[in-house]
Amino acid sequence: MLIFNNKTDIKALLAKHKETNSTIGFVPTMGALHKGHLSLLEESVKNNDFTVISIFVNPTQFNNAEDLEKYPRTLEADVAKIKTVNDNIIVFAPTVKEMYDNEVTSAHFSFDGLENQMEGQHRPGHFDGVGTIVKKLFEIVEPDNAYFGEKDFQQLQIVKKMVQKNAMPVNVIGCPILREASGLAMSSRNERLSDDDKNKAALIYKTLTEARQLFEKHTVDYVTEYVKSIFKAHPEFDLEYFEIADEATLIPTNIKENKKYRAFIAVFLSNIRLIDNISLN
Ligand code: PAJ
Repeated sequence: MLIFNNKTDIKALLAKHKETNSTIGFVPTMGALHKGHLSLLEESVKNNDFTVISIFVNPTQFNNAEDLEKYPRTLEADVAKIKTVNDNIIVFAPTVKEMYDNEVTSAHFSFDGLENQMEGQHRPGHFDGVGTIVKKLFEIVEPDNAYFGEKDFQQLQIVKKMVQKNAMPVNVIGCPILREASGLAMSSRNERLSDDDKNKAALIYKTLTEARQLFEKHTVDYVTEYVKSIFKAHPEFDLEYFEIADEATLIPTNIKENKKYRAFIAVFLSNIRLIDNISLN
């Protein structure tokens, strides 16, 4: 398996593949890989001649220094997991200096308002950081297809918007959320939860599925109040937001129209911030 730390080297290899009209699939990650990440890799391997995975804990998208510092960094274990999917996957694991040189800052992006909702409100600067790194990575890898999880649904919509606004020649493909048997959405941050907290965290998806059922017959306000009451009754959780929003614009709604809606949640458990979402109709 080829592992690159240097953008010039990986660009040279990929340029050779592109000369033969091979397709390149790309899976950007921050490492600490789990089956959710591997499902994106599998999708890419199935549909492209070559697959690149990047592993880079991007400092500019963290709005909390402690979260950045504690983010798990497990390159060796990650490489072993990638090999279980396919031995020909190309790994790009650059340093901060390689990606940012001496200027570890974000560019400013407008994503037509998508950036102002939910995660954008609660994590100032986060999506500028995501836009900055994804743009840099796309310019290095120049993929035909790029795979993003619906786990970070707002990020997926934002990357689609960036590609559309800048007319970048990349297909952005959304992939379903992989969950533990308990329903807990897989996440690198789950590794920081105790076993007891992992069991408790199953309440998040359980409540989202209840919200989906209630949404069939009840108003948005009714569903929102129900979800809030559940987390109030479980004080080990600190609910940051629960929103029902139009999937396309991510604008929270109070009324139901003939649109696709999704419920989004961010909740703290033992100081670990967990996010999840579910399609409602
Ligand atoms: P990271 O959190 O490592 O996630 C990498 C990709 O894996 C994202 O597209 C994310 O949505 C997807 N993913 C995470 N958990 C998943 C799950 N349970 N099921 C399916 N897909 C899942 O997202 C990032 O990194 C960064 O913001 C990045 C895009 C790499 C930019 O730095």
